[in-house]
Amino acid sequence: MPRLTATRRTFLAGGAAAVAVPYFAWQPRTLAAETRSPSDRIALGLIGAGSISHANLDAAKKWVDVVAIADVDAGRRDEVNAKFAGGKAAVFDDYRKVLERQDVDVIHVATPDHWHTKPVVEAMLAGKDVYCEKPLTLTIDEGKLIRKVQQETGRIVQVGTQQRSTFNRFVKALAIVAEGRLGKINRIEARIGAPPTSPAIPALPPPAGLDWDRWLGPAPVAEYRFMQEGKQPKTNCHYEFRWWYEYSGGKLTDWGAHHVDIATWALMLNGQMAGPLSIGGTAKHPVAFKDGVPVEKDRYNTATEFHFTVDFPGGTQMVIRHDEDNGVLIEGDKGRIFVSRGKLAGKPVEQLVDNPLPEDALVKVYDSNLPLLENERSAHWANFLLCTINRRKPISDVHSHMKMLNICHLAGISARLGRGLKWDDAAERIVGDEQADAMLARPYRQGYAIEMG
Ligand SMILES: NC(=O)c1ccc[n+]([C@@H]2O[C@H](COP(=O)([O-])OP(=O)(O)OC[C@H]3O[C@@H](n4cnc5c(N)ncnc54)[C@H](O)[C@@H]3O)[C@@H](O)[C@H]2O)c1
Repeated sequence: MPRLTATRRTFLAGGAAAVAVPYFAWQPRTLAAETRSPSDRIALGLIGAGSISHANLDAAKKWVDVVAIADVDAGRRDEVNAKFAGGKAAVFDDYRKVLERQDVDVIHVATPDHWHTKPVVEAMLAGKDVYCEKPLTLTIDEGKLIRKVQQETGRIVQVGTQQRSTFNRFVKALAIVAEGRLGKINRIEARIGAPPTSPAIPALPPPAGLDWDRWLGPAPVAEYRFMQEGKQPKTNCHYEFRWWYEYSGGKLTDWGAHHVDIATWALMLNGQMAGPLSIGGTAKHPVAFKDGVPVEKDRYNTATEFHFTVDFPGGTQMVIRHDEDNGVLIEGDKGRIFVSRGKLAGKPVEQLVDNPLPEDALVKVYDSNLPLLENERSAHWANFLLCTINRRKPISDVHSHMKMLNICHLAGISARLGRGLKWDDAAERIVGDEQADAMLARPYRQGYAIEMG
């Protein structure tokens, strides 16, 4: 990849092109200042030109050029092309055309959740590094496949859990944990706001320019649904796919991927992340379920109320529950803190005035001399791009991501079946419940199997 070699040069401190400068020698200014030349920039192929792709490209645009865009909605790919590529990017309905291109260095996957695993695996097999939005998968078994292919190909894959790059809140909270200020963690709560509900949404012909069959892709055949209610449309398509188990896990994965992630990272840093052993609790859904499948097909179906307890060896418990006070509460035997996107609070935080964290505390947690960029999305992208150059593990790698996403998926299976589950973490199987264990995977619609090359 000639462009990446050129770019590699610009990232290395002091411009020492052929010398492998360690990641921690990199200075944040270097990235912004030395990528001015068009030939030194990283060529990005985008798959899924929806709402979050705009935020991500805004965050990464000083380092990347968008050269190819795939979206099954022509209006959406044209909009991103005009806004981020001056209309010059190659545009496609079929994302595989983006993967074939030799001029693409890295791939950004920002499709709905049911359309993550297939392009991520195929991108790695095509020799591309990938930044994929969270949650990485729709099922636990998809995670096993992605991890296996990542290990075999050695590609760099960053998951878009940018809270891991939010230094003034989440990373700082985790540094407090890692410095032993909370002691042993006894209990963690991941608090997640409730999702919207919908009335029955009428089936309509898909709008012109939207390839609905390809939007469904590996998911079961379904009618396109849409109604305008107030400002926010109700639909089973753009953005609102989150509230349908066919395409997402609802809030349990949409926000679970952020907050259960922080909770799990805290346990890992404290050496308490063996397991989990089991999960149990309750969930309410807006529709009836039969054998784990929603009976009504015309309205949002993901859990609107939930309260799950996840048990770990040593008695530590993680609670995942709906609560408008969106954030993570970490309780140890020496103190407790609450962290969210707007707040970091608790006695151990107040005590930092008299007893500050060591200077390298954040750097140790983040595992590098990181770009301490204030904008977390830019920081997360910088971390990814630097890791592609230095061939290092990114901060939200697929292995640690799946460790926590397995918990979110188990909560979803438990919610849909209405019963608790026992988990064999080493085998990554549900124990003593064949029906639940079968839900670790999902059937892929004919014509949409993952192409293993
Ligand atoms: N990190 C975050 O904070 C954050 C925030 C929002 C969304 N997300 C994640 O980003 C992903 C996208 O969410 P969104 O809100 O942007 O959704 P969206 O519906 O606005 O965008 C998804 C886009 O993907 C396109 N698409 C669907 N199938 C495709 C295919 N086969 N090939 C190419 N394009 C295809 C759709 O047409 C749509 O334009 C989700 O997984 C979501 O969880 C992450």
